[in-house]
Amino acid sequence: MAVRIDGKALAAKVKARAAEGAKDLPRKPGLAVILVGDNQASRVYVTGKEKDCTECGFLSFEHKLPAETGQEELLALIDRLNRDEAVDGILVQLPLPKGLDEDQVLNAIRPDKDVDCFHPFNVGRLVIGDPVFLPCTPAGVMEMLKEYDIPVAGKHCVVLGRSNIVGKPMGALLLQQSGTVTTCHSRTPDLASFTRQADILVSAVGRVGLVTADMVKEGAVVIDVAMNRNAEGKLCGDVDYASVEPKASYITPVPGGVGPMTRAMLMENLLAAARRHQGC
Ligand code: GUN
Repeated sequence: MAVRIDGKALAAKVKARAAEGAKDLPRKPGLAVILVGDNQASRVYVTGKEKDCTECGFLSFEHKLPAETGQEELLALIDRLNRDEAVDGILVQLPLPKGLDEDQVLNAIRPDKDVDCFHPFNVGRLVIGDPVFLPCTPAGVMEMLKEYDIPVAGKHCVVLGRSNIVGKPMGALLLQQSGTVTTCHSRTPDLASFTRQADILVSAVGRVGLVTADMVKEGAVVIDVAMNRNAEGKLCGDVDYASVEPKASYITPVPGGVGPMTRAMLMENLLAAARRHQGC
């Protein structure tokens, strides 16, 4: 039977640490959250992030814009927030509605306020091993591995998915910790031949039932980053938890695994940004 990695409990610990770390700051850390359009899932995420800010004693400034918002208007808002001294971090919730240029928007955020770690400057710093911020979801996974004393060095880490938000930076962080990293994606033939080699398997694809027991090595650490809804409308990840759990040594549940950790690491990044801005 696997040890269930409790993301909810660890997230509470990380947030308490962030709240404590901000106590001696002259000014409370401030997060500007921009939500364009009315994507239901995005609205839930944004509400969660604002709740975390309140819990940590941080400020959040919400900017809800209609789906018809133009590129120039969005860039003008980012420019204003870049220059606002009360704002330490700027988060543009993705995905943006069709018609908006996501790359240009992410490029417009001042790198020292880019608490998502999506700006090419910060991605570059991450890849060369000199990070300004750590990307929230992969950093949350690394924090889980650390908390449960799961070593990465020398282990074969197989990452499923190559998104800029999770797959690519996840591989970079595992590599930084001296893991041997394989990244699989939609064009990878015979996925199971790779997953069966994994000491640490991280799935970030977004497909219900993608990872089944026959694809997992006995004793593997299984981290499920996905957030899907199954046929009954219940939240679930990529991993068939019931069949994989008896084979794994450690496993994350969905919900209650990586999700809360992503939000907690955002608070850690916001604190880091505020400290730098206030010279502390
Ligand atoms: N959409 C899905 N995940 C994320 C995230 O971590 N940050 C932002 N800004 N948008 C997202």
